Amino acid sequence: MLNQFNNNSINKKQKAYIRTYGCQMNVNDSEYLIGQLKHLNYTITDDMLRANLIILNSCCVRKNVEQKIYSLIGRIKKIKIVKKDLLLGLCGCLAQKEKEDIFKRFPCVDFILGTSQISNLESTINMLKKSKKKIIDCENKLKFNLKNTPIKRNNNISALVQIMRGCNNYCSYCIVPYTRGPEQSRGVSEILNEANNLVQNGYKEIFLLGQNVNSYGQDLTKSVRFSELLKLLNDINDIVRIRFITSHPKDLSFDLIKTIKNSDKICNHIHLPIQSGSDKILKLMNRKYDTNHYKNIVNEIRDKVDNVSITTDVMVGFPGETDKDFSNTLNLFEEIKFDGMYSFIYSNRETTVSSLMPNQIPLQTKKERLWKLSNLQKVISNKINEKLKGKVVNVLVKGYSQKNIINQLSGKTDTNKSVIFNGEKGLIGKIVKVRVIESDAWTLFGELVN
Ligand code: SAH
Ligand code: SF4
Ligand code: F3S
Repeated sequence: MLNQFNNNSINKKQKAYIRTYGCQMNVNDSEYLIGQLKHLNYTITDDMLRANLIILNSCCVRKNVEQKIYSLIGRIKKIKIVKKDLLLGLCGCLAQKEKEDIFKRFPCVDFILGTSQISNLESTINMLKKSKKKIIDCENKLKFNLKNTPIKRNNNISALVQIMRGCNNYCSYCIVPYTRGPEQSRGVSEILNEANNLVQNGYKEIFLLGQNVNSYGQDLTKSVRFSELLKLLNDINDIVRIRFITSHPKDLSFDLIKTIKNSDKICNHIHLPIQSGSDKILKLMNRKYDTNHYKNIVNEIRDKVDNVSITTDVMVGFPGETDKDFSNTLNLFEEIKFDGMYSFIYSNRETTVSSLMPNQIPLQTKKERLWKLSNLQKVISNKINEKLKGKVVNVLVKGYSQKNIINQLSGKTDTNKSVIFNGEKGLIGKIVKVRVIESDAWTLFGELVN
């Protein structure tokens, strides 16, 4: 039966379309999904209408993304009416949250894979082709099982590497601990092997991923600190840059700051989600730090690491957030001066503690607060970037700029700022020096320095 399937797929190339929602962890999971599809002899298409297989790798951190996914499933249902052999699979966090309820609500879905079952895509498709029965695989197995899973990476310069999955923090608003399960670190040697293989294959940047990288290694039989893992990676000769997300302010250690300071490869950029500038709200969020602690860490980072950039995540409209709480956030942003931020309107997620809290904030107020905070941050980012005009920055060239103008390249500084400049294709994958000529809140524009 298996042979027959393989023969069929060789004779008639099947096409798969995959859409990824959510964080970098999901982006990396999709690279594993695509690796398995290639192994099954699928070609990947950008055109959903031409696909024989559609996979949605889903997120549910906020309600609006969930709604987008449901409305896309509704569209695919219509395509399936005319395209009888089309298969539809839902993977990732929304699949993990809703489980078999998805089948009840959307009978057009053929299979569901949870967040720990990404590696099972290949066997799932094989089974589905044989039995034509719906498949659900969401039992939360707690094993890091990506080692032998084929992967097809999105680019050949910067590689995402998961060092841990899951989260134990239970911030009161957040669904991630429910969808990704408890923290689970990947073994040091497995990470080092992967990093070594990547650099041998020409990758320049290793981008470490975890929901809370600062608590890496605590669950391993022989516990290892995150800063120790970084030192080991730093010792791999051909790695040019090391990045990581996300750091939790309650766990970021002085040892880590020292490690960043002493390493030439770990990028001078820390993404440190603050979430709110009000101590009352931080307590309700169960973040386990206050604004004083946060400011102390920022001062320590800026004191020890030269030329560092700090970015953050923040939420507006958490239940009980008064005008005063919000103005505390504005004031703190004014004081800290982040290089950039991702800002979100608080979204009520079922099963989370905050969904039961009184004093939910009206949408209009949330929108106004988001608008005010975005405007403030835009002015701050503009000013910070303006100061870089005339300076020379080191840029890892990632590819052509999004606008695809001939010979216009784009890359990232070690402070994680995007830079656009003119240059030859041959520079892609290299570190070059660029003098900044212009800037806005998000991007630097420059010229190559010979
Ligand atoms: N592990 C990371 C963040 C993961 S989720 C951390 O702890 O920082 C990414 C961001 O989504 C969070 O930082 C938070 O700002 C936002 N987020 C999470 N749950 C949310 C919710 N219910 N509503 C709005 N934003 C939310
Ligand atoms: Fe969610 Fe908090 Fe865990 Fe981040 S640390 S994933 S915000 S529960
Ligand atoms: Fe979304 Fe899951 Fe990531 S909920 S943000 S895809 S961990």
